[in-house]
Amino acid sequence: VLLLCTVCAGAGVWLWNSQVISTADEVDFTRPLAVPPLAPSRMESGRRVFDLKAQAGTHDFGHGQTPTWGFNGDVLGPTLRAARGEQVQVNVTNALDQTTTVHWHGMHLPAAADGGPHQLVGPGKAWSPTWKVDQPAATLWYHPHLHGETAKHVYRGLAGLFLVDDPATSVDALPHEYGVDDVPLIVQDRKFDSGGKLDDSPGFMSGVGVLGDTVAVNGTVGPYLDVTTERVRLRLLNGSNARVYDFGFADDRRFALVGTDGGLLSSAYDTDRIMLSPGERAEIVVTMKPGERAVLRSYPQDLGTGPFGRFTGGADTLDVLQLRAAGTLAPRPAVPSKLVEVPRLARADAVQQRPFRLSGHSINSKQMEMTRIDFAPERDSVEIWKVVNNDGEPHSLHVHDVQFQVLTRDGAPPPPQLSGWKDTIYLPGDVDFELIMRFSDFADPNTPYMFHCHVLFHEDAGMMGQFVVVPPGGKPGVVDHSSHLA
Ligand code: C2O
Ligand code: CU
Repeated sequence: VLLLCTVCAGAGVWLWNSQVISTADEVDFTRPLAVPPLAPSRMESGRRVFDLKAQAGTHDFGHGQTPTWGFNGDVLGPTLRAARGEQVQVNVTNALDQTTTVHWHGMHLPAAADGGPHQLVGPGKAWSPTWKVDQPAATLWYHPHLHGETAKHVYRGLAGLFLVDDPATSVDALPHEYGVDDVPLIVQDRKFDSGGKLDDSPGFMSGVGVLGDTVAVNGTVGPYLDVTTERVRLRLLNGSNARVYDFGFADDRRFALVGTDGGLLSSAYDTDRIMLSPGERAEIVVTMKPGERAVLRSYPQDLGTGPFGRFTGGADTLDVLQLRAAGTLAPRPAVPSKLVEVPRLARADAVQQRPFRLSGHSINSKQMEMTRIDFAPERDSVEIWKVVNNDGEPHSLHVHDVQFQVLTRDGAPPPPQLSGWKDTIYLPGDVDFELIMRFSDFADPNTPYMFHCHVLFHEDAGMMGQFVVVPPGGKPGVVDHSSHLA
């Protein structure tokens, strides 16, 4: 056992059998789905100001009162919402007994406001980043990013949504009444010890860190949602540390995929499955008949095979949420097939190509170091990143600051679900991706943005690197070492 452990520590670890857990037969959908409240905001000298306080609490996951962390509450956080063009400010205070950070995942913003591992908020301390929201309407999210501790902080409950509104990149015909026909679903698997505490031990054979057998949606275990309209838009966030979901419905009904990480697609994609690795989002529109019930399910998928068998983290069938349609449903328009204009970044515009090989908890054989800058794109330049998962373990790549587009997947144009704006992408083993992105607006040679695997156990283990954006012709600066000392 010890020998195996040693081997596994470097090479990743696997579980040898898959299991079917938490299917509809076992999940009683007895709790109304909690919907995160919209965060109150106020205007102060032209800025929309929000308050977020990280705090400890307890939450009922069906295992008694489980100790948790949350923003402005016991678990998770309120939904921040701002319009494109607005200057926002978030007053983050830390009422925990340890240092944390708050990162705005998917947001295009200056590095100093990004909330990565360099923007520490110590216990009892505050941090008030401000930036101008300037990107298409999208479902973004926020979560801690303390180096080496991200998995723990997110797992305990620190996560929330940040919705960007923008009339020019939204579609009025899509359901858009928050909490009524436009409902966010933060999907997170959790494991409990016998005392009802969250068990975040990575597990001997998981390879990807903690995998839970209980699925919470917005913190609710066994949730149902009362549907009152003919169509409902679900904003899915895989907020899990490690698990990969392949969402569909138990009756295999089709739905419209309308948006991905960074905004709406150019056209709705009629499908019956959408796969999300940790950190990814999808917006789907489901059609319901009066009085019917539908169960949102995660189907098993093949994440590849290691020495001991199939990788876990994708092998389970998990029932996630029951939709309960009322006897009478308010009409909602059909999903238009054309949605928004998604301008394509062109290969010819790229001035730089960079290879990224993910393997052995490293990227290009390097592990995260707080003061090392790996490269420095010039402001307003377009780059192509050639990315491959070379060890076959499940990985997902997330890039801060930008929304990218998939240029090619194994040499071919991307499938519809990868055709829109993305900030996080699942990397199956040995599949080559070309991602194209522009580093616009912000340059700061001394403050890095992160790129990393969003399997949080891998990220914490060092599968992360740093880049700075420099002015045209500029050179990378020096990362202030003291900035990460708690
Ligand atoms: Cu969702 Cu670098 O993080
Ligand atoms: Cu990984």
